[in-house]
Amino acid sequence: MFKQLMEEASAKAKSSIMLALDLEEAKPAGLLSRSLKILEATHPYLCALKLNRQTVLPLGLFQGAKKIVDKAHGYGLPVIMDAKINDIGNTNRIIAENYFKAGFDAVIASPFVGWEEGLQPVFETAQKLGRGVILLVYMSHKSASEGYGQLVQNPKTRELEPQYTIFAQKALTWGADGAVVGATYPEKIREIHGILGEKVPIYSPGIGAQGGDVAAAVEVGARYLIVGRAIFQAKASAEAAKCFRDEAQKRR
Ligand code: XMP
Repeated sequence: MFKQLMEEASAKAKSSIMLALDLEEAKPAGLLSRSLKILEATHPYLCALKLNRQTVLPLGLFQGAKKIVDKAHGYGLPVIMDAKINDIGNTNRIIAENYFKAGFDAVIASPFVGWEEGLQPVFETAQKLGRGVILLVYMSHKSASEGYGQLVQNPKTRELEPQYTIFAQKALTWGADGAVVGATYPEKIREIHGILGEKVPIYSPGIGAQGGDVAAAVEVGARYLIVGRAIFQAKASAEAAKCFRDEAQKRR
């Protein structure tokens, strides 16, 4: 259901750009008003919005964060919580339920925690409520290889394999609604897309501020592009969002 929601929002806006609204402000009131302003200016060029804990913590999940979620929904944008859920199953379930109660359409979770008593309760909760779960498969930052790139023994084949290809297979078996692969590693996007095909869309952060490039990511299989600072720190955020949108559309 979430996959379909994203497809529809993307087709309607003719955009595959998801804004990561990660402003830094001294006071929560300022953070909320600036976040809403940037969302208002950029929404015509977006297919979705993403928040993470740096915004939800100061604003409060059912207070300021919910206001942003509601406003985005008013514009027809699905909203993703970049929670990187990674605890024991019971805690994970309650965390996910809270985000879903606040209106988030999907959560991002970490496969390092495993299935049974790990992410299984998150997938079950999401399914019950018609929401989505997106799995981290290869992160965008410099030291991503230290975890996601480790060579580990695949318990099924007994062969050594990179952690991220095992995570990509888990995304398929667990029925994930998306896989996060950093735009900073186009060769990993290509390889992971080879495993996932069109069944699990790739969400790619790291465009702009972290050095990732729209064309390079889209051409090797990224379906949605997550952009933060390169849009909200731009002098004209709407213009920047439009440029990313147009560039991605050209390459698709
Ligand atoms: P910038 O400003 O670098 O922001 O465009 C990137 C946004 O994406 C998040 N991020 C990630 N989220 N897996 C994720 O789930 C990743 O590998 C990853 N890398 C960056 C970051 O928190 C910010 O919101």
